[in-house]
Amino acid sequence: MNSMSALSPDEIRRRAEALGPWFHNIDLGGVMTAPEHFLGDYPGFKWRAFAEAVPQDLSGRTVLDIGCNGGFYAIEMKRRGADRVLGIDSDEDYLDQARFASGVLGLDIEFRNLSVYDVAALGERFDVVLFMGVLYHLRHPLLALDLIHAYAARDVLVFQSMQRGSTEAEPVAENYPFSDETPFDRPDWPKLHFVEHRYADDPTNWWVPNRACTEAMLRSAGFRIEARPEAEVYVCRRSEARPDARPVHPSAEARP
Ligand SMILES: C[S@@+](CC[C@H](N)C(=O)[O-])C[C@H]1O[C@@H](n2cnc3c(N)ncnc32)[C@H](O)[C@@H]1O
Repeated sequence: MNSMSALSPDEIRRRAEALGPWFHNIDLGGVMTAPEHFLGDYPGFKWRAFAEAVPQDLSGRTVLDIGCNGGFYAIEMKRRGADRVLGIDSDEDYLDQARFASGVLGLDIEFRNLSVYDVAALGERFDVVLFMGVLYHLRHPLLALDLIHAYAARDVLVFQSMQRGSTEAEPVAENYPFSDETPFDRPDWPKLHFVEHRYADDPTNWWVPNRACTEAMLRSAGFRIEARPEAEVYVCRRSEARPDARPVHPSAEARP
C-alpha cells in the first residue's frame, strides 16, 4: 500500500481541493474531484459512450495518453490491465492532479511533462495511444498527428476532437479539376476552422475541424478509422502514411 492509498476521505478531499480546479471528475474512493463540472460528470459520461469500443483487456500492452490532464483515461487504461501506462501533458498542475489521483487509487502510472510535439524524445512506440481533446488546442494539429504516427503509435489510436460545422462526411475524390470551385462550398468538404482570438473564452482553442476534416486528417496521417463509437471519438489502426506526410519538426529532426 502506498502512502496516498491510506489517506482518509477528509484528507483526500482537502488535498484534491488544494490541487484544483480539476477538469477531470475522478472518483477517489467516494470523493469526486470536480463535482461541480460545467459539463456534468466529465469525462465519465463521454467514456461510458465509447468504453466498449476500446480493448477490454490490455494486459501485455503499453499505453500512451497524450494530453492526459488529471489522469482519468490513463487510470481507466491501467484498470484494464495495461502493463505500462504513460501519461504526458504540457501542464504541470494537471500532472500533479494525475499523480495524486493514481496514487490514491493505488495504480502504478507514470506521468511526465512532455508536449505532443516532443513524442519522438520518448524513443518508444506504444500499443495504444490516446489523443483525446488535444488536437484543437494546437497551433499545428496535423504536425502532431504526423509525429504520433512517425514516432509513438504502434497499433491502436483512440482519438477525440471538438468538432463544429457539418456532421456529414461524404467520400472525397482523388482529384478535382482547377476549374471546379464547387467542392469548397460544400458543407461536407473537410474544413478546419481557424480561431484567431478565442472560442468559448479559451485562447488555446486554435483550429476546430468539422467531421469530414477530422476523418480526412486521421486518414492522411496514416490512421485507418475502424470505429466511430461516439460523434467525436474515433478508434483507429496505424497504417501506412503517405510518403509526403513525413513530419518536419526541429526536435524530431535532431534525433540521432
Ligand atoms: C481538453 S483537455 C483534454 C484532456 C483529456 N485528454 C480528455 O480528453 O479529457 C486538453 C489537455 O491537453 C493538454 N495539452 C495542450 N497542449 C498540449 C501539448 N502541446 N502537448 C501535450 N498536452 C497538451 C492540456 O494541458 C490539457 O490537459
